[in-house]
Amino acid sequence: MAEDASQRISIAHNEARALYVARNPRSQAIHQDATRSLPGGNTRTVLYTDPFPICMKSAKGYQVTSEDDKTYTDFTGEFTAALYGHSNPVILEAINNVLQNVGMNVGATTSQEQLFAKELCQRFDLERVRFTNSGTEANLHALTAARLFTKKRKVVVFNRGYHGGVLGFKGGKPAPNNVDPNDWIVVKYNDLDAATKAIEGEGVAAVLVEGMQGNGGCIVSTEEFLSGIQNATAKAGVVFILDEVMTSRISGSGFAGLRGIKPDLKTFGKYLGGGLAFGALGGRADIMAAFDPRLSTSISHSGTFNNNTLVTHAGYAGLKHVYTPEVADSFTERGSQFLAKLQEAVKGTRIVFTGLGSVMCSHFVEGTAEIRDLVSADDIQENELLKDLFWFEMLEQGYWVTRRGFIALVLETPQSELDRFVDAVRAFVSKYRELLVL
Ligand SMILES: Cc1ncc(COP(=O)(O)O)c(C=O)c1O
Repeated sequence: MAEDASQRISIAHNEARALYVARNPRSQAIHQDATRSLPGGNTRTVLYTDPFPICMKSAKGYQVTSEDDKTYTDFTGEFTAALYGHSNPVILEAINNVLQNVGMNVGATTSQEQLFAKELCQRFDLERVRFTNSGTEANLHALTAARLFTKKRKVVVFNRGYHGGVLGFKGGKPAPNNVDPNDWIVVKYNDLDAATKAIEGEGVAAVLVEGMQGNGGCIVSTEEFLSGIQNATAKAGVVFILDEVMTSRISGSGFAGLRGIKPDLKTFGKYLGGGLAFGALGGRADIMAAFDPRLSTSISHSGTFNNNTLVTHAGYAGLKHVYTPEVADSFTERGSQFLAKLQEAVKGTRIVFTGLGSVMCSHFVEGTAEIRDLVSADDIQENELLKDLFWFEMLEQGYWVTRRGFIALVLETPQSELDRFVDAVRAFVSKYRELLVL
């Protein structure tokens, strides 16, 4: 990018940042106070933003309200977990029922967990399922099951893949806080030849892959890539684990259903707990037998809250009565139309919107080439200042978008708010046209 353009971005960024500071004094004060008890005032890294994060006070329906009394349309959607919106009446009723009639922490199995399990199995084509408290845990246990089944240890994963707090891959290697630092083979996303070669290598237990890399910028897999992985794993006796933590909402039968593929195991989380902490892993009965306590060969899978009554009731109610397969399909259709309008609005600029259905991400690509179909985040460099500038401006327009550009729509968001966002993006493009055109 030319030097004067960089300078102009820098000036616009400084102005937007100053406005952010001026508009959010209470958030700033709360953050300063928080630094005295939390490192950097933070207990969830993704939510830290410089100079300080906006602190939310409450949320209702499709909106969130900050401590500075600004109400935003929630486009963060709790990174896909807030699909049902805030205080959805069906979820509220299920939770109230537990609090008033069922009780929490009963220290026993319940018939509700069985009902919920059955619903998940039917919906996502699983022979058996197990519950956890997070998507991270679901992936950790799925890997354990795959290792036990194959008696091998190595796992093929993909650069920019994210499977949980201790399962992230960047720069071609596992993140410094990852478990099992030596057991990963990190391959470029959507590179089937490299993936096949890795799968055919020595000592490989599993492939762990997202149908769309969510954290990695909503980069969607190609059809050939996932079906190729399915074929290669079947041939090599390697367990194919599809991480559906973010993508299970993408159709009435998840991403696998949408693509017509049949992974050996799938992992889940996010909205499936009805907005409460949740994770699950499921798939082939012979692999899931790792957790069958009747078998002498089984391993323990513990977790105090695995079958807690709040989550089994709220999660079930959400799936059964709110996010039915028909609603899932039509929400994805609605998201796709929105995404198409955004893509149209930024045509010919260095902004690219990627994603699928109701989950998407904006990118601000360095260089001069127009990139429409991004298949790997490795192929681009982003202009972080422009990305920031967009974030500041969308906040000003009343949209709670993540700093990194990730958007996960909330079910009850009115069409008028989606249309207004497209207009806001068009206005951004027109305001900064000379910095954005290729
Ligand atoms: C694809 C994917 N897998 C796993 C996880 C981890 O889920 P959790 O945050 O519930 O541990 C995430 C979280 O963002 C995710 O996006």
